[in-house]
Parts: sequence; C-alpha cells; structure tokens
Amino acid sequence: MDVEILGRVLSTLPGDDDHPYRTGPWRPQTTEWRADDLTVVAGEIPADLDGVYLRNTENPVHPAVERYHPFDGDGMIHVVGFRDGKAFYRNRFVRTDGLLAEREAGGPLWAGIAERPSKSPRQDGWGARGRMKDASSTDVVVHAGTALTSFYQCGDLYRLDPLTLDDLGKSGWGGAFPAEGVSAHTKVDEHTGELLFFNYGTAAPYMHYGVVDADNRLVHYTEVPLPGPRLPHDMAFTENYAILNDCPLFWEPELLAKGAYASRFHPELPTRLGVLPRRGGAAEIRWFEAAPTYVLHWVNAYEDGDEIVLDGFFQGDPEPKDDGFGDKYRRMFRFLAIDRMQTRLHRWRLNLVTGRCTEEQLTDSITEFGVLNNSFGGRRHRYAYATSGVEGWFLFNGLVRHDVLTGAEERFTLPEGVYGSEPAMAPRVGATSEDDGYIVTLTTDMNEDLSECLIFDAARLADGPIARVRLPERISSGTHATWASGASLPGWSDAESPATAVDL
Ligand SMILES: [Fe+2]
Repeated sequence: MDVEILGRVLSTLPGDDDHPYRTGPWRPQTTEWRADDLTVVAGEIPADLDGVYLRNTENPVHPAVERYHPFDGDGMIHVVGFRDGKAFYRNRFVRTDGLLAEREAGGPLWAGIAERPSKSPRQDGWGARGRMKDASSTDVVVHAGTALTSFYQCGDLYRLDPLTLDDLGKSGWGGAFPAEGVSAHTKVDEHTGELLFFNYGTAAPYMHYGVVDADNRLVHYTEVPLPGPRLPHDMAFTENYAILNDCPLFWEPELLAKGAYASRFHPELPTRLGVLPRRGGAAEIRWFEAAPTYVLHWVNAYEDGDEIVLDGFFQGDPEPKDDGFGDKYRRMFRFLAIDRMQTRLHRWRLNLVTGRCTEEQLTDSITEFGVLNNSFGGRRHRYAYATSGVEGWFLFNGLVRHDVLTGAEERFTLPEGVYGSEPAMAPRVGATSEDDGYIVTLTTDMNEDLSECLIFDAARLADGPIARVRLPERISSGTHATWASGASLPGWSDAESPATAVDL
C-alpha cells in the first residue's frame, strides 16, 4: 500500500468526549488520505470490478452549540476505486461554506437538528427550517461524471471529482439553482442521464420537484403544493413518473409558530403518495392514500400495466416511545434504530385507472438502507440489498439480499463489534443479469481498530466477502453510498491504473 497524508483538519472536540455518535465506531476522522494499491488481506479483487464506490459520512469537527445529533456532522466522502484487480482510497471533507466558516471561527456557528435555530450564533444559514449548517453529509450520487453531495434538510449540491474527491464548487445550473435548495436523495436515471430532485420547507407551497438533464441544465421545476410543512426524505421514479410523498410525520404546527421544531406522527392521517409525469406540473399530480407511516427510504418504483409499483421501507412505529431502557443517549436516539422504528420492506401499488392504492408487507425481516443495481432504477427490479441494524443503535451489522419476486432472503452478518455502511451494487463489466455483479461496503472494526472494504458476489451474499481490502485507518461509521462504473467517469479510460487514475 502506497500511502500519503493529504491534509489534517483541526478538531475542537473534547478529548474526553462521551457522545456515542462521536466516539467508538462513530469516532470522526481528522486526516485526509491518499492510498494506492491497497493491501488485499483476503481473497482477490475481481478484474471485472471497475469503477468507484463513494460513501458520505457525518464527521463532526467541532462540538455542538448544546446538543449534538449525528445528522449534524460535517460531510466527509470516502472513495474506493477498483481497476485491473487493484484498489485505491481517498477521503476528503466536503468543503462546504459552513465548514469553512466554522474553521475560521474555530467553533460551531449553527445549531443542529436537536437544538432550536434561535441558538445559532449566526443569523443566516441553510435548511428547510433555516439557520442550520448545510453539512452536505447525507447522500452522494454521481451525475454527468461528477459526484454530488447533499444534505437531508436541503441545501446546495457540492461537486467533487469522483476519483480525486477534489472540490469542484457547487452546482449552479447556469444560475437556475433553486433558492429553496435541494434535498438529499436526488435520483439519477442511468437510462436518460437525468437527475431528478425535490426540496421542502416551511413556506407554501412547501415542496418543489425538478429535473436536470444529462448536460447539467435545469430543464424542469415545479411547485408541489402540500397541506403544510412536511419532512419528506426520499423520492422515487419510473420511466414516465416521479413519485413524491406526504407522510403524516411532520413538525408540530403550534410549536413551529414558536420557533421550535418537534416532529410528531399523526396516525389519524393517511400517507399520501404523489405521482406526476416526470416533466409534469402541479395540476398533473395525482395523490394516492395509503396506511399511515413514515418512509425514510424507497428502494425503487416501476410501471406495471395500469399500476405503479413502489417498494420502500414501511415504519411499523415511526414514533417509538421511550422504553426507559439504556442510557440517556440510547433513549434520545431511539428514533435512529431500525428495530425501534420497525422498518420492513413494503410494496405499494398505485392504480392509475382506479386511483386506489393497495399495499403489502414483503417480509418480516427488519432492514433499511436498501439499494439496487442502479441500471434498474425506474425499471422492474427483482433484488434489493439492504442493511440489518444493531438493536437500539444507528449501526449496521450486516447485509440482506431481498428477492422481491420469490421473497427469498440471503443474509451476511458481520462479526460482533464490526459495523458496515450502506452497500452499493456494482454491476460486473459485461453483466448479463440484474444481480451479475458485486456488493461493496466499508467496515468499522472495533475489535481490530481498522477498516476494510468488503466485496461480495451479489448473487452469493451469504457466502461472505470474496475480497477484503485494508483502508489506511479506521473510519467512522457512515451511511449513504453509491457506485459509478469506470465507463461512466470522464478520464477513467485514459488512466493506466487506479494509482494514475487519480492524478488526472
Ligand atoms: Fe437517507
């Protein structure tokens, strides 16, 4: 392994920190690395695994104003690239305006999600509720050859070179970038090269939806009127439609009027699923009513005759009660534990002729953070690759492959004390079927104080990793990830090896 430290960031976090989401498997990193020709500790990197796995991470640098929530951490991107049976690694902080301003100030300037905005030292800021830092730490996709990081409370899209992770500034879309910002979970349709996105906020119409074309031009932007401020986190799409949601879990209106942001579940209200043509306007949205729940993540949607089939994770208990078990942090962050929220893969069928929605639970297993072979995005899919969770905590302890056609599940559980991240499905070069490829994830190993990149055969997940590759240091646990094939990346084909690929 050829390793170089590219930079270090000064952290002002206390040495005796006891916050569980800033210590242990969530210990943030301060070092930015370049590592080429990574050491393969077991197995062999397949020669037809070709491209990059990118993962975002909440990686705080400063203490919170009062109360840290793990979604407040600054964005850090990790990339592991594969080519010719070799791998390279880079990690970089996302150079957000907020990170740079706090570096200048030497401490926190914005209150996080568990604090009132009025506690922010700065009057300005970003986010659906305002006066927050846009940490760009939630999601990452690759669109038009550029990695885009995003923030769940809406903000800018930060552009990074997907090989070097060099800062390429923010998406401007020729001056058309919406003032309302963009939410995490933009969607890239690999068949058209389009980027679909939404945003949300506290001012009417409360939501917008838009389309950016393959040439990075904003070609569509429309209002999506809602009954009030809502907290959508994800969207879905089919070949012809975009699917947005109005789940009955939102900021309590009376508290909102007093500047407090407390979300509450309303089991008396339906979940509403909004279907509109991908270039359609507000008048064309059709709303379907479904059982009340909150859906953090969808897996995919596709058209099936008169129906739209939508798969995602239904929460059996979107508002888990304090069971009095565990310490204050475990109780405070019970909303992050997928076993407490009872998240299960679920299918909604939206009939465009009758206007009715039918739905069914697809499994008893509790999983979330499901991904698929992205070339099946918006098309009929069969497989979803999801994570299993550590009881009571926001940590992943394994992977589950759901076959939504047969209901079969394949599971791989990590050893005790080893945690994974959202996987990505990397189709094999020349793939001939949906699951012809590899599953890639990163681990945080508290037993051995190290991190690895694990590669699985997507069709044989239960067999365990076919290769394990060592990273230069133990990285923080993190969540959303994506895969971009080498063929989709500008400059990739001109490079001789992963090591030279990053010096373009
Ligand atoms: Fe998410």
